[in-house]
Amino acid sequence: MKIRHIDLGEHPVLLAPMEDVTDPAFRLMCKKFGADMVYTEFVSADALIRSVGKTMQKLNINDEERPVAIQIYGKDTATMVEAAKIVEETRPDILDINFGCPVKRVAGKGAGAGMLQNIPLMLEITRAVVDAVKIPVTVKTRLGWDNDHKIIVSLAEQLQDCGIEALTIHGRTRAQMYTGEADWTLIGEVKKNPRIHIPVIGNGDVTTPQRAKECFDLYGVDAIMIGRASFGRPWIFKEVKHYIETGEELPPLSFDWKMDVLRREVLDSVNLLDERRGILHVRRHLAASPIFKGIPNFKETRIAMLRAETVKELFSILDYIKGNYTL
Ligand SMILES: Cc1cc2nc3c(=O)[nH]c(=O)nc-3n(C[C@H](O)[C@H](O)[C@H](O)COP(=O)(O)O)c2cc1C
Repeated sequence: MKIRHIDLGEHPVLLAPMEDVTDPAFRLMCKKFGADMVYTEFVSADALIRSVGKTMQKLNINDEERPVAIQIYGKDTATMVEAAKIVEETRPDILDINFGCPVKRVAGKGAGAGMLQNIPLMLEITRAVVDAVKIPVTVKTRLGWDNDHKIIVSLAEQLQDCGIEALTIHGRTRAQMYTGEADWTLIGEVKKNPRIHIPVIGNGDVTTPQRAKECFDLYGVDAIMIGRASFGRPWIFKEVKHYIETGEELPPLSFDWKMDVLRREVLDSVNLLDERRGILHVRRHLAASPIFKGIPNFKETRIAMLRAETVKELFSILDYIKGNYTL
């Protein structure tokens, strides 16, 4: 699959943009395990044009993680255009527009998935951003606002006509937020539409290598995107890529190996931020890791992990787990 000159190979598997998750350290780690493209967390166009320090930091990318997309959101055309130009100067490979975020503070104000209630404005912003920058512009959105307005099949054509060069579809409506199951049938419909010539990236509930392959096979998408299943499990890209390429599961990765990866994730996060903020950021990922699933009486240890404030404390909990649980 290609997005303009960016060749992502066959059956690309992408790391989804996720606020407070896809910082440079995590993106790089996923990239090393095989993610074919990574996305920054979404960046507010309003904050960007005001040069808010914390927001500007989100534009930090490094060459090792390429190809990388920076994602922006906003609800005003002029602001989005200005933000897009600021983003372009930081030289990402792609600029992605978020029309999918369902949370109240974003969608409730008309940005993100809120734009699914104002399609003319969504298209105006998309056209203006495409015209404002030279890099490829892509869009990530949902099936529609709610069950009665699943408009993605016609919307995909309209967005394509605005000049976007790929479309990511999360198989839920805004009303669903993150509940229920992602429905890939309409994603497949978009892909089947003979008028659609841009790559279609499917997203939602891909949690196993088998499901990843099924999504390619059943719905014909050009790429799949993985979000939550990468929490505390960045090696999912290695598992998925191997399965797609060979049709076989990767030989099981040992518990110790996975623990070492998580330790590295802690250190990367601390090096990127500082000890306090790095730990705050990463301890939630660790506590959510599927490698601890099924361990009897693990609740206390998980709580201790969520309360850890230093690397030493967190590592001693990981040592305790290693010494006290046999998996
Ligand atoms: C913690 C969290 C933060 C997210 N932040 C973003 C974001 O910044 N931009 C975006 O387009 N989607 C965001 N999403 C949505 C994901 O990119 C993805 O569409 C969604 O989680 C469904 O994919 P999954 O089932 O593989 O997780 C976020 C999701 C989660 C759970």
